[in-house]
Amino acid sequence: MLSHNAIHFEQIADGLAQHGFSFVDNFLLQPEIDDILNLDEFNDRLLHFKKAGIGNSQSRLINEAIRGDYIHWIDPRNTHASLLIYFEKLKALMTYLNQNLFLSLKEVELHLTSYPVGSFYKRHLDQFKLEDHRKISVILYVNKYWKEVEGGQLRIYNGSEVTDVFPISGRLVCMRSDKIEHEVLPATRERMSVTGWMLDQLIDVK
Ligand code: OGA
Ligand code: MN
Repeated sequence: MLSHNAIHFEQIADGLAQHGFSFVDNFLLQPEIDDILNLDEFNDRLLHFKKAGIGNSQSRLINEAIRGDYIHWIDPRNTHASLLIYFEKLKALMTYLNQNLFLSLKEVELHLTSYPVGSFYKRHLDQFKLEDHRKISVILYVNKYWKEVEGGQLRIYNGSEVTDVFPISGRLVCMRSDKIEHEVLPATRERMSVTGWMLDQLIDVK
């Protein structure tokens, strides 16, 4: 029998190959998600998180009209066990995608993300510059008991098709960073996730 992992990986690779995106549920188990939510960085997010930007040339006002989320980058060298579990699982997925989709992904970068009530991220592509090494966007939602009436869906545009994905706990979304336009709709409660990218080059250690 295929393991849970193998089924997820196959489903993700198929979706990426056929549509440029895919999502699976229970990528992490709820106790693993609870451990992530219990991180100091998440608990004290008012202290740790910074306003996310959209590039250096934009004014605060323009930025605010485009995205309203707060983020905290994760240092892969100094990471809590709960995030290491997620890192390792993403690295295994990366190896699987390299083998099955003939990609040359080399590294994962991650940040914790919070969208305050009412905030959004307008339609965009994650790879906005030519020299960008982001290839696959990966978002893990950590919102327990999310209800559709609360909004906050990720709206994915794929040709003439539109797919809404609600940010429910344990769900992982993968998208081709250079091809799939998407937006985050406002929600009536805070919306939290771990957002990341699989890169085709190693990150420079600062
Ligand atoms: C992003 C983004 C989508 C989401 O951070 O670039 O589009 O569902 N996130 O949080
Ligand atoms: Mn995005």
